[in-house]
Amino acid sequence: MRDLRAHYGPWALVAGASDGIGAAFAHKLAASGLNLVLLARRAPLLETLAGELRQAHGIETRTIVADLTVEADAERIRADCEELEIGLLIYNAGATHGAATFHDKPLESALALVELNCRMPLRLAHAFGAKMRARRRGGIVLLSSLASMSGGSHTAVYNATKSFDMILAEGLWHELKPHGVDAMCLMVGATRTPSMLASSAAFADYPGLMEPADVVAEALAFLGRGPMCVAGARNRAIVRHLLPNPRVAQINGLSSATAGIYGKPVIDVSGEDF
Ligand SMILES: NC(=O)c1ccc[n+]([C@@H]2O[C@H](COP(=O)([O-])OP(=O)(O)OC[C@H]3O[C@@H](n4cnc5c(N)ncnc54)[C@H](OP(=O)(O)O)[C@@H]3O)[C@@H](O)[C@H]2O)c1
Repeated sequence: MRDLRAHYGPWALVAGASDGIGAAFAHKLAASGLNLVLLARRAPLLETLAGELRQAHGIETRTIVADLTVEADAERIRADCEELEIGLLIYNAGATHGAATFHDKPLESALALVELNCRMPLRLAHAFGAKMRARRRGGIVLLSSLASMSGGSHTAVYNATKSFDMILAEGLWHELKPHGVDAMCLMVGATRTPSMLASSAAFADYPGLMEPADVVAEALAFLGRGPMCVAGARNRAIVRHLLPNPRVAQINGLSSATAGIYGKPVIDVSGEDF
């Protein structure tokens, strides 16, 4: 396995680290020797996890208690990380819990999801990605969902925000790869996380349900190889059916078209499809 600390260390920021896939990222990255900034809303869970990881792996940790739907928290996150060299940003928080039609929920709940899944990852990717680009090394992982593949009733806003994450990650992959920074969309299907188990009893035996540690192992093995990792063979088969065109060729093609129109250099970036 690659030396993750050498590629993406010395610090990683996991946004949404207190349980599920985010905590699994924290465990795997700590085992690889990266120091961790663990961020979520529930302080006790973060402190317990940080203590466990320090003891098990001898790494350094910081915890940030923040709400990623609150714009003002972005500045505090940046300030708390100011003197750390963050080489890897994992933007994990972002599930929707339960199902209701757009008009049966207050507008504020849709706007909070846009803040959580679109505006905050933009802010953090902009702030931390700029430093990575200047250092010519680093990685940014944005989590998306199979729900991003189309619109759908009862999760209309969630699906739309997760499409945003996928398309943003692909664009950042093309822009940053020539600067030595690996951006990637991590496309996730049904996964056994506390949030999802709490949101519906049907989740417990959902077909193809993945374990967080398996999602993370696939993601970290793929990081640096291409713009999109789809975790799980079953999920890959679904996404290949829904997105039959090779993504790398498509991203290069669209980037070339834009470059041609605006007189920018045409850059072909090589990478693997999921
Ligand atoms: N689980 C699945 O089946 C599934 C399927 C497809 C895609 N995904 C994607 O995988 C990612 C993780 O999903 P998940 O099921 O683990 O649930 P989640 O509800 O996104 O929770 C993940 C982590 O994010 C934190 N978090 C959530 N909202 C936050 C906020 N407003 N501010 C700060 N931290 C916040 C949670 O901790 P706190 O509560 O302590 O803040 C938790 O540590 C999401 O992006 C989701 O879209 C999951």
